[in-house]
Amino acid sequence: MRRLALTVHVVASVGWLGAVVVFLALAVIGLTSGDVPTVRGVYLVMEPAAWFALVPLALASLLTGILQSLGTPWGVLKHYWVLFKLLITIAATIILLIYMKTFSLMARAAADSTIDLAWVRNPSPALHSVLALMALLVATTLAVYKPGGMTGYGLRKHRELRQRSG
Ligand code: HEM
Repeated sequence: MRRLALTVHVVASVGWLGAVVVFLALAVIGLTSGDVPTVRGVYLVMEPAAWFALVPLALASLLTGILQSLGTPWGVLKHYWVLFKLLITIAATIILLIYMKTFSLMARAAADSTIDLAWVRNPSPALHSVLALMALLVATTLAVYKPGGMTGYGLRKHRELRQRSG
């Protein structure tokens, strides 16, 4: 059961990272392509693709990460690497949910043929994809290296456990 839960967590979290790479590719295509339907299509597809891929993967990563923490001796608040991952994931998920409005506005502009292509092109998705990618790479590195360092709460719990068993 523990291995299955960890597999689901890794698939959701690293899958989220992979989906962000695809969004970065779409964002670069939107900024650089000379083909009008391709550029408009990119900004039209971002919003539904984000609802179908980014949002579920972000929520699944957060939920399965919390389950991993609670179901293992790592805990949610005992180790700095887990705490930092939690903060990164919460911040990235909240920013993504707020950004869904921007995806919707960009899609509306792309669908309106009276709006000039120069106004349809937008550097914002490329910038946000790069920032999200960096945050998720930090989270993945923390997960794999698991650097030492316990929080005050973690040290207290550790001492309590040692006193009880010794
Ligand atoms: C973008 C977000 C995240 C990414 C990319 C990510 C990635 C990973 C990866 C690759 C592992 C496997 C590491 C290994 O087995 O050596 C892992 C394990 C783990 N993750 Fe995450 N994670 C994320 C979010 C979270 C969150 C929000 C939490 C909880 C607060 C969390 C808690 C854990 C714990 C406790 C483990 C270790 C489980 C074990 O060894 O039994 N993760 N994570």
